[in-house]
Amino acid sequence: MKQIIVNLKTKKYDIVISQSENDFFTALAKAAKTNMFFVITDKNVEKLHLKYFTVLLKRKGFNVKTAVISAGEIGKNIKSLSFLYDKALEAGIDRKSCAIALGGGVIGDVAGFFAATYMRGINYIQVPTTLLAMTDSSVGGKTAVNIKGGKNIAGVFYQPDLVWINSAFLSTLTERHIKNGLAEIIKYAFTFDKKFYSYLSDTLENGTVPPKDFEYIIYQSCSYKARVVEKDEKEITGLRAVLNFGHTFAHALETATKYKKFLHGEAVAVGMLFAVKLSLKLRICKPETYKEVENLLQKADFTLSTKNNARQMLSLMKKDKKSIDGNIKFILIKDIGKAVSTYVKDNVVLNVLKNFTGENK
Ligand SMILES: NC(=O)c1ccc[n+]([C@@H]2O[C@H](COP(=O)([O-])OP(=O)(O)OC[C@H]3O[C@@H](n4cnc5c(N)ncnc54)[C@H](O)[C@@H]3O)[C@@H](O)[C@H]2O)c1
Repeated sequence: MKQIIVNLKTKKYDIVISQSENDFFTALAKAAKTNMFFVITDKNVEKLHLKYFTVLLKRKGFNVKTAVISAGEIGKNIKSLSFLYDKALEAGIDRKSCAIALGGGVIGDVAGFFAATYMRGINYIQVPTTLLAMTDSSVGGKTAVNIKGGKNIAGVFYQPDLVWINSAFLSTLTERHIKNGLAEIIKYAFTFDKKFYSYLSDTLENGTVPPKDFEYIIYQSCSYKARVVEKDEKEITGLRAVLNFGHTFAHALETATKYKKFLHGEAVAVGMLFAVKLSLKLRICKPETYKEVENLLQKADFTLSTKNNARQMLSLMKKDKKSIDGNIKFILIKDIGKAVSTYVKDNVVLNVLKNFTGENK
């Protein structure tokens, strides 16, 4: 078992990385003082893991209610939230009950938002089942749903009471979704740690990570995330914003393609290449750094180009949460492991966008 403590000013919680159910129950006893659990999942995870998980809880004598929403980004909306409020009330979930997010990042974000707002806030636990959720979204308390105009626009910071990461759930995950998680893992290397970059560069085989290394990678990723969240929980000092490397472009791309073409991590991979191109254009990084970023993304076998309209992408990026008065703030990199945040003028962004999307050819 590996354990990381997230020590915030107002709250402290554990990330338990273990395939042992006993480890989970020991942590659960500390984190949740209730007998009533509301397990939220999606239609795919329902088929694969919900029965196992509810039986596990019921065997301990807990009262378990469940709610299932649509799978994928399509289910990350206000309609799902509204469904969850009704379902919880009907099931007798009260202020002392505890919600459990059993699923990927979508479930974590929606269930977290639900928990933050249902009866003005109830406890919740993250049980991530995708590599992306295990290495990123289950930690840190960012919860949100998408609205028509943009991704994650309605949301709130609300920390979980426990994160249980059982890598055994990954055995049913598709290769595409494993790779999707890899993008956020690579992001930690680009922004925080050159050694981790070298490790990934040496380890990636056929575009993926060997399963024997999953727990190590999850532990490393959660450690970076926990340390950043401890220092800048609500993205005030700018430190946490570094985790958005590649995301300004990625969110615009996901919105432009209506969440149908790219998975989040796939969009982040393209976004990271765009961000390093911008870094190069502004002479923030050297051509060698650009090459290092490109090499690792290619090694991971991501599709790294897109033909979306540059002006549309610019206008979507201006709606990003980091933009102030229409000025877009980007996370750029100076070197592998060293990120900076800076506002970039629209004409510069547009120029790089046009080269990137091939409009300048
Ligand atoms: N809150 C944060 O800090 C944060 C950080 C990064 C990303 N995110 C959000 O996370 C979301 C992406 O997360 P995701 O990639 O996990 O997407 P997801 O939750 O949609 O899961 C991907 C797919 O895998 C399926 N699935 C889940 N677990 C499975 C398993 N064990 N076996 C087989 N199939 C399984 C799901 O049903 C879904 O179809 C995005 O909405 C993104 O904005 C949030």
